[in-house]
Amino acid sequence: MLGAGLSPGARESLSVDPREVCDVSHQSSPNRKTTDAAAATGSRLDSYVDRYATRTHGMTASEVRSLFAVASRPEVVSLAGGMPNISGLPLDVVGSLVHELVDKRGMTALQYGSGQGDPTLREQICEVMRPVGIAAHPDDVTVTVGSQQALDLVTRIFIDPGDVILAEAPSYVGALGTFRSYQANVVHVEMDDDGLVPARLREAIATVRASGSAIKFLYTIPSYHNPAGVTLTPQRRAEILEICRHADVLVIEDDPYGLLGFDGEVPRALRADDAEQVIYLGSFSKTFAPGFRVGWALAPHAVREKLVLAAENSVLCPPAFSQLAVSDYLAGHDWLAQVKDFREAYRERRDAMLESLDDLMPAGAQWTKPTGGFYVWLTLPEGIDAKAMLPRAVTNRVAYVPGTAFFADGFGSRSMRLSYCYPTPERIREGVRRLAQVIEQEMELRATFGAWAATRRPGLDGPAPDQS
Ligand SMILES: Cc1ncc(COP(=O)(O)O)c(C=O)c1O
Repeated sequence: MLGAGLSPGARESLSVDPREVCDVSHQSSPNRKTTDAAAATGSRLDSYVDRYATRTHGMTASEVRSLFAVASRPEVVSLAGGMPNISGLPLDVVGSLVHELVDKRGMTALQYGSGQGDPTLREQICEVMRPVGIAAHPDDVTVTVGSQQALDLVTRIFIDPGDVILAEAPSYVGALGTFRSYQANVVHVEMDDDGLVPARLREAIATVRASGSAIKFLYTIPSYHNPAGVTLTPQRRAEILEICRHADVLVIEDDPYGLLGFDGEVPRALRADDAEQVIYLGSFSKTFAPGFRVGWALAPHAVREKLVLAAENSVLCPPAFSQLAVSDYLAGHDWLAQVKDFREAYRERRDAMLESLDDLMPAGAQWTKPTGGFYVWLTLPEGIDAKAMLPRAVTNRVAYVPGTAFFADGFGSRSMRLSYCYPTPERIREGVRRLAQVIEQEMELRATFGAWAATRRPGLDGPAPDQS
């Protein structure tokens, strides 16, 4: 069953005037007013403050960033990061292809490349998309610096300040950051165990349109969602497409995990059934290696032209070296067999996490059961705040990302994202054991002293008022 944290946040966020959630605040919403106030009054901590563009006001450091510096210490089990586990990559193969690339084609690989991306790689990308059901032409593919750059380009060409983007509740933190930097107004739409809820999407479209705002697109991660760990069912895929076609809402389908299903099943992409309404974003970060920073956007012809122009305005041309290395890897190596190896490694880790959660979580906690990808979404027992609990968890040598990071509107405080992709199964079990201890301590504190005690942060907050 899907955690309670997904739907209430979404429902409540829809009851807010979308314009009020315009300044997307994915990591530090409670402090936003302070930050804005400081900017408005010209805080002298940063003497450039009066010169920054308005769009930078949304660019604030995560409140939990300093904790993550501690969380990266080896004694802490980090269930926070979403780093792909590339320990199974054949480094000798990658090393020799890179060597050969410089040796044989160094003058091309180390030169500026084409704005749209290497033509051979674009053909290969069309092959990579076949398993998700997409038949595409290389002319419609734009190679990007990771799919993160594709997200940036799409947002840049479609969004004016205040425009509405519909996004699942919760949604990918990197996308929310990009949307925020373009001053988009993110309106969340409820999900459940079967992914985005079509009825809620209909309602959201109607509510936003009634408010007079422009919906520029729906941003969705239908397969093995980050952070929710759920997958949109085939029936709902058809329904979501139908709703978007009928309402003329463009769909941005972000699909970095589509080939990482544990039962070997590859969900059919939305783009496979609609080449006009859907822009598809893909990445080699999870199926090969994130260090090459190669992703892509597949877009209708006219949009593709704008994407290339926008890309030329930012990086001029994406790195030819990375593109040719990825191209050689795809041509000279059984990349699908490698993806299968990755899947096995992630499945083993998913199993370790789900078994430990089953064994150790207290009554009242709920979590999703991913069939692919990297993440479990855990909702805590009533009354426990994941962000307030994080310092205690880090003290207990386990880290996670609080749910509020994945909402543009400050919701998600009862939830957290747990990543199982990187640690070994043993470390995952140990991490969940430590987490369960912290949650139980938190519940005991609440039961004994009430809500106030449970939100005290060890070493950070002062003594209780009645003790001073
Ligand atoms: C849903 C989603 N979209 C996009 C990205 C960015 O991927 P890339 O490494 O290709 O920039 C990630 C990375 O974690 C992701 O989870």
